[in-house]
Amino acid sequence: MKIAFITGGGDSAGINSAIARSIMHGFSRYGDSFVGVEKAFEGLAAERVDEYLRPLSARNAAGIFDSPSTILGSSRFAPFKGAGVSWAPARIIENCTHAGIDAIIATGGNDTIESALGVHGLGIPIIAVPKSIDNDISGTDWMLGANTAVDFAVKAFRSTAVSAETHARINVNEIMGRKAGWLAYLVGIGSGADIILVPEKAFSMNGLACRVREIFERKGCVNIIAAEGITFRLDDPVIARYAGADSPDRILGAMLCEKPEYDPHGNAKLGGAGMILQRMLAAELGCPASAVRHSNIGFALRGLQPNAFDINLGQRFGRRAIDLLHEGKSGLMTGIQGNRIAAVPLADALPQYTLDSLDEAELADFGVFFEARGREEFRTAS
Ligand code: F6P
Repeated sequence: MKIAFITGGGDSAGINSAIARSIMHGFSRYGDSFVGVEKAFEGLAAERVDEYLRPLSARNAAGIFDSPSTILGSSRFAPFKGAGVSWAPARIIENCTHAGIDAIIATGGNDTIESALGVHGLGIPIIAVPKSIDNDISGTDWMLGANTAVDFAVKAFRSTAVSAETHARINVNEIMGRKAGWLAYLVGIGSGADIILVPEKAFSMNGLACRVREIFERKGCVNIIAAEGITFRLDDPVIARYAGADSPDRILGAMLCEKPEYDPHGNAKLGGAGMILQRMLAAELGCPASAVRHSNIGFALRGLQPNAFDINLGQRFGRRAIDLLHEGKSGLMTGIQGNRIAAVPLADALPQYTLDSLDEAELADFGVFFEARGREEFRTAS
């Protein structure tokens, strides 16, 4: 079988580990040959697809088990979604025929898995391998890259917490994750955050400011982790006061009213929650902006070398993807459930897997800030 790899969406650790094991297992067990398609679906649907093809052999595989990101580049091209791509599905069929591709293994997040379902519908055998630092796909407990991202961010944010204690500061750390709070939650627990703000749980600015003040008075510093996808509701009386042209803080006013850009899959380009929180908390608490500092670990979580967990997960996913193809399967995603490697129908993987799957009492106990709860119920990790 000639198998093509594509690696779509945001990069992460562990992708190359999956590619390496798939090549080693497919070549040694089944005599498969392999080709990498650069820039994911943009390459697979390209007019001159030969320019995107990279033959891959066991020799290539040997050196990439623990290398960061993906050797094949990536794109967020959506062949089945949005205006002006009606030509793409037929081009994918044409290019697979032209290149002699019998099947595809696609690593990706929600959007790549949705596109893989479209490719499956074209009759091209395809298996998805879940990856994303967001860890927000259903049907799997972990996705490639999420564990490495948590590992790294915990070390980084613990460092900011130590500095905040030394300088008696309020410390706001922004972290990615789109509209799922897994990164903020797991890194918040690991780095000893006093307050964790996640997209799944609404809060009011007044409630947050009161909570920050209480902790500062008790501890002399406050560590806050904020997911990039939290919502600043313009119907919140405090936020309404700072939003817009007549805001007492022009920068804050503009940031709160900024309209986001969107990617080809319709995802808003997020970022900036940490700076908004820094400026608003300083104003609400009546302290100088220098008393509230913010860090945004951003893309540092994307190009990391995989930790042992993600090297292992990549290899177990890569092996299972090859076996599924040789069992004649398609339209499935490898997943880890407990410690088993499962095969999950792509349609079952699509619903976003968020913190709503966890018990609210646990979230609150680790400092996730809820507006719905009375203040006396708040307990913090510290
Ligand atoms: O999906 C992974 C992710 O890192 C999100 O956490 C983040 O919001 C998004 O990708 C950023 O997308 P891009 O790399 O296209 O800016």
